[in-house]
Amino acid sequence: MNIKSIKFINYFSHGRKNINASSYIHGTAKTKLELDKTTSRTQVINYLLSNIRRKTTYLEIGVRNPEHNFNHISSDKKYSVDPGAEYKDNPVDYKMTSDEFFRLLDTDEILSNTMKFDLVFIDGLHLAGQVNRDIENSLRYIADDGFVVLHDCNPPTEWHAREDYRYQSTPAGGFWNGTTWKAFLKWRSESNVQSCCIDSDWGIGIISKTHPLGDSIQATNPFFEFSELDKNRARELNLISFEKLKLLLNGT
Ligand SMILES: C[S@@+](CC[C@H](N)C(=O)[O-])C[C@H]1O[C@@H](n2cnc3c(N)ncnc32)[C@H](O)[C@@H]1O
Repeated sequence: MNIKSIKFINYFSHGRKNINASSYIHGTAKTKLELDKTTSRTQVINYLLSNIRRKTTYLEIGVRNPEHNFNHISSDKKYSVDPGAEYKDNPVDYKMTSDEFFRLLDTDEILSNTMKFDLVFIDGLHLAGQVNRDIENSLRYIADDGFVVLHDCNPPTEWHAREDYRYQSTPAGGFWNGTTWKAFLKWRSESNVQSCCIDSDWGIGIISKTHPLGDSIQATNPFFEFSELDKNRARELNLISFEKLKLLLNGT
């Protein structure tokens, strides 16, 4: 199919009015900008794990197709959790929600409640309340020098940050970051952790108990309004490049 006929189909499926709306043009341009960024979550996670100079243990919450990330992570031990909502095969260690996983871990029914992960990658249900619980639980189970990493912390527009992923007739189309950014922003104000967000792959949030990633900020967006985030995202998320992250960690 050539570009001309794709445009023709788009024209009718989205409607002339929608496609020419400034919001639609803005949203699709923002999606393209994000897709053009090259640093991936996989690269960042592997870099962080390589910084921990011992045998490492990795946990991924929300895996979907493991070929997209999990299979490419270099760690001595790897564990995966996913209830299988989006991928029929669901080849994970724990076929359950993250809440159920941590409940069974706490009661010593799986693995061991004294174990520590070196890195937990949170990429399960992208709603702020759930992500916040995943962060709280992960922080209880990471080593002091470990990392909590989160996907989708930097939604380019309000449509990408919509609560309900089923609303796909928006300028974000099928792209969905959910409300993960709100949970990450909440933790940016916690004085007991350091945090930053790599400006690529929809925002790769990183939280640490000990590494100098970035001091906590005073909460200036108490109602988690998207327009406020959009105006101040560099400060609110502590948006940095992958190169800057390497400088921060090598300086320790
Ligand atoms: C965005 S995909 C994960 C993508 C993968 N981490 C990657 O990097 O390619 C989200 C996954 O989270 C899973 N999920 C949904 N609700 C969950 C929950 N409560 N706990 C854990 N995983 C969940 C879905 O089944 C889906 O497979």
